[in-house]
Amino acid sequence: MLLQRTLVVLALTVHTALCGYQRSIVHFDMKGAPPKVAYFKQLLTMMSGLGATGVLMEWEDMFPYQGNLNRIVNKNAYTEEEVISILEHAQQLELEVIPLVQTLAHMEWILKNEEFSHLREDERYPMVACIGDPSSLELILDSVNQLMQVHSKFNTRYIHIGADEAFQVGICEADRLILPVKYENDTLRMIFNHLKKVSINVTEEFPATKVLMWYDELKSAPLELIKEYSLDELVIPVVWKYTANLDNDLPPEMWKNMSYSFKEVWGGRADGASRYWNRLKPYILNNKEWYLQNEKYKLHFTTFDSIIITGWQRYDHFASLCELWPTSMVSLALNLIVLTKFHIDTASAEQVINALNCPPSTTLDQLVAGTDKCRYPGYRARDAIRDYFQLKTFFENSTWVHNRENGWLQSSHMRLSASNPYYIDAIGKAYERTLKKMDTITNNMRTAFTEIFYPDVIEEFETDYITPFYEELQKRKDAVANIDTKRSYGPRPWFRL
Ligand SMILES: *[C@@H]1O[C@H](CO)[C@@H](O)[C@H](O)[C@H]1NC(C)=O
Ligand SMILES: *[C@@H]1O[C@H](CO)[C@@H](O)[C@H](O)[C@H]1NC(C)=O
Ligand SMILES: *[C@@H]1O[C@H](CO)[C@@H](O)[C@H](O)[C@H]1NC(C)=O
Ligand SMILES: *[C@@H]1O[C@H](CO)[C@@H](O)[C@H](O)[C@H]1NC(C)=O
Repeated sequence: MLLQRTLVVLALTVHTALCGYQRSIVHFDMKGAPPKVAYFKQLLTMMSGLGATGVLMEWEDMFPYQGNLNRIVNKNAYTEEEVISILEHAQQLELEVIPLVQTLAHMEWILKNEEFSHLREDERYPMVACIGDPSSLELILDSVNQLMQVHSKFNTRYIHIGADEAFQVGICEADRLILPVKYENDTLRMIFNHLKKVSINVTEEFPATKVLMWYDELKSAPLELIKEYSLDELVIPVVWKYTANLDNDLPPEMWKNMSYSFKEVWGGRADGASRYWNRLKPYILNNKEWYLQNEKYKLHFTTFDSIIITGWQRYDHFASLCELWPTSMVSLALNLIVLTKFHIDTASAEQVINALNCPPSTTLDQLVAGTDKCRYPGYRARDAIRDYFQLKTFFENSTWVHNRENGWLQSSHMRLSASNPYYIDAIGKAYERTLKKMDTITNNMRTAFTEIFYPDVIEEFETDYITPFYEELQKRKDAVANIDTKRSYGPRPWFRL
């Protein structure tokens, strides 16, 4: 209900000074559940139909790197021909393509491997590269250049070099040796020097391409330092924040500080927690706020008209899968509208209905609840995930079952195979019904996932989100069956020491 109300409020808000973002870029996070090529192209077509102007491609280990990196790429990695055919498709749709390659932190996919673990900032953690070691820079530039060799065959006006969440710096031996000599013991200087080298390399090799980076390292840096390392000329910051209270979390002073150094700034917002079923409301609230931030701070900059809508499929290389493409589609569609127009009017609702191949009678309420009959690519996976989510919620919501479990089917009952069948037979039936439904849903899910994802995705999804629940019910169902075979019990105590 809350979700629906949010939309109504949005729809009724009269906004006179419509501005919004002219460039809305949708993030393809290939760290988790990378789409198969055919589905990838369908997704791009949908993005275009929904009004996105471009895509941010975070290939991670799915890019067909050669040389030293070749050994460690994902075994499902796309071939170069596949990458090119994907980029050609994007070009035909007139989508702007921005490659993202991490150059400081979030380098888990490389640093997790034994052959590269000596390049870690902190030997215990596989995230940040030891940037004081020249081999790190070499490796990073190699990855950037390989990616750009392919992307630059197409119009590539921007590259994103990541650089968020560098939690450890100045720890590896190479850093400790060089910090006092070259950087006055200031790790930020060392980071800036590194980012400067990366940016210069890209801009010299590919003069038509500008460099974007997350604003983490720039947000509280002294202005003089940004200037000293020429980052004001070399990079464009992408400010990101996922909360609903941006006024508080992105204070005016931060925007002012940015505007002293940078003429252009981009915004970035994200899909949230590691949930497998989409939560629309926080995203819409967050995007509403982003729209307002743009209105408020646009004048500080020559250009502030671009937003990246990030959709993490994993938070990092090791994290569990979160919302997958099929479940995020409606949210993405509605949020794209909120970011460009603020309110969802009839014309934009129609655009969504067309782009997602929905029956004309589809209502916003149905879209928000996920009960629509839209037939967009991947909808079968969406339906299966939704059915599972609803089944699980229904079971968790069945208070009468849990009351009886508390009274007659605790761990002791299961261990001793002893209880009162009068109370547990009915919950045994509930387990059976739920398991049967789950079998059907899981079968549908497997078929649906196989069409659009590589085979490991359904394995991982089931292992994390379905199997634990399934096995718990199976265990309880078996316990009821065992108890039902008994006709009599001996005297208590039943626990023997
Ligand atoms: C950029 O880096 C690549 C890869 O290390 C290297 O081959 C190339 O010469 C560098 N370009 C410039 C202009 O420094
Ligand atoms: C850097 O730190 C080292 C060790 O703490 C110290 O000896 C040195 O004087 C410092 N250098 C500068 C320039 O602050
Ligand atoms: C803005 O910059 C000033 C001077 O560099 C600094 O003291 C202040 O903390 C910065 N404010 C924010 C919100 O980063
Ligand atoms: C859970 O139970 C509440 C209260 O009985 C009910 O309003 C709600 O619709 C139920 N939700 C589901 C998914 O069954």
